[in-house]
Amino acid sequence: MKLNHDQQRFLEEWMDFLKIPSISADPAHTADVQEAAQWVKNALLQAGCPMVEIIPTEGHPIVYGAYLVDPDLPTVLVYGHYDVQPPDPLELWDSPPFEPIVKTTALHPDGAVFARGACDDKGQMFMHIKAFEMMRSQGPLSCNVKFMIEGEEEVGSDNLEDFVKANKEKLKCDIILISDTGMIAKDQPSITTGLRGLSYMEVCVTGPNRDLHSGLYGGAVQNPINVLCEMIAQLKDENKKITIPGFYDKVVELSEKERAEMGKAPFDLEGFKSSIGIKEVLGEKGYNTEEHRSIRPTLDVNGIWGGYTGEGAKTVIPSKAYAKISMRLVPNQDWNEISELFTQYFKSLAPVGVEVEIVTHHGGYAYVTPTDTIGYQAAQEAYLETFGTAPVPKRGGGSIPIVPMFEKELGVKSILMGFGLDSDAIHSPNEHYGLFNFFKGIETIPKFYEHYVRLCKEE
Ligand code: BES
Ligand code: MN
Ligand code: MN
Repeated sequence: MKLNHDQQRFLEEWMDFLKIPSISADPAHTADVQEAAQWVKNALLQAGCPMVEIIPTEGHPIVYGAYLVDPDLPTVLVYGHYDVQPPDPLELWDSPPFEPIVKTTALHPDGAVFARGACDDKGQMFMHIKAFEMMRSQGPLSCNVKFMIEGEEEVGSDNLEDFVKANKEKLKCDIILISDTGMIAKDQPSITTGLRGLSYMEVCVTGPNRDLHSGLYGGAVQNPINVLCEMIAQLKDENKKITIPGFYDKVVELSEKERAEMGKAPFDLEGFKSSIGIKEVLGEKGYNTEEHRSIRPTLDVNGIWGGYTGEGAKTVIPSKAYAKISMRLVPNQDWNEISELFTQYFKSLAPVGVEVEIVTHHGGYAYVTPTDTIGYQAAQEAYLETFGTAPVPKRGGGSIPIVPMFEKELGVKSILMGFGLDSDAIHSPNEHYGLFNFFKGIETIPKFYEHYVRLCKEE
């Protein structure tokens, strides 16, 4: 790919942004998160957004920008996040996570930028700033644009929730536009029509009041790690159904017609397996892989620790064992209720000789975007124009808890125009984002505005 002058500059700016380690989860990086907020503010001002402010919260700041032409014209609110996930495990990165570098891969012969946040969500969010800059350079826009870029998405958006509730007038808009999801393939665009909810728990099993010599005590007392494993094993049955009583009660089942419609989206199971190095998939009985990762709720252990994990061997029975367990939820499941059901059930699984403590970290609701709206239609036409292929609707498996919140508090739907790929390795070592995807995004976004404004007029 031959980059023109502007594209070269966009790439350099994006890489500059990626050098800031804005890890929201790590208090040691608070100053970096603030620097990233400042960077976003400057980028918006430079792009031609006349009013930009940094709004402090009890956690990390929100960057808010407004370009208001006429209250009678439609208003688009762009949401994104400038915070990133921790880069660990560092030793698995081929190049340092905050020293962005362009490399080519089989999938990205034109190159991809490798860095934490390259895709999620610095790269995707930055596309909106550059698309806005391009549109502004051609004269005034025929709609109002607001930007709300937060620094706490990766830790649950708790403070953003309060901000949204308290600033409904300021955030008033007709549609919310977000690029923080993916698409099927470079030659098969898709629009994300759903997100899963989430309930994130942490459990601690305590046995004896101190670590014990496993020879002197082994066999006579409960080992908290063994117990924790036995308890976790009981959370799913042989059909991979979650055993928590009431867990599926409110789950919305899709009709056969809806499932058949879903099944039309192209999916390469062999490619899926080989891309993650597994020989076989196995999920909840009665559903296929694409359904497992979108319309069905799940439960996964995200981390488990306790006892001796250092070099060599140590013969010990630990006093405590821990696990982080999260559940992805689907429409109508209430994450507070699910957290409660989990807590009751998990405690009921505790055998004699141990104590169990459980905390709820955070959660969020699932979300569905209807496809019969002008917002969806505008996105569809935009992709069709720039990719030459009609995008297909696709329910996603990830979560962006603020999206259902926007709907509840502002009464506004979000259009999820993602340009990422599953292979981008978001949250993993060697996260990257293709130059093709980045520039295609910058090309497609202005088309969305064009079609959206036209369709609003026609309505
Ligand atoms: N951008 C992701 C969510 C995503 C990615 C949705 C790809 C669909 C496709 C977002 O930054 C994220 O990682 N969300 C978290 C939830 C949050 C509460 C930590 C997630 O899904 O684990
Ligand atoms: Mn994200
Ligand atoms: Mn993320």
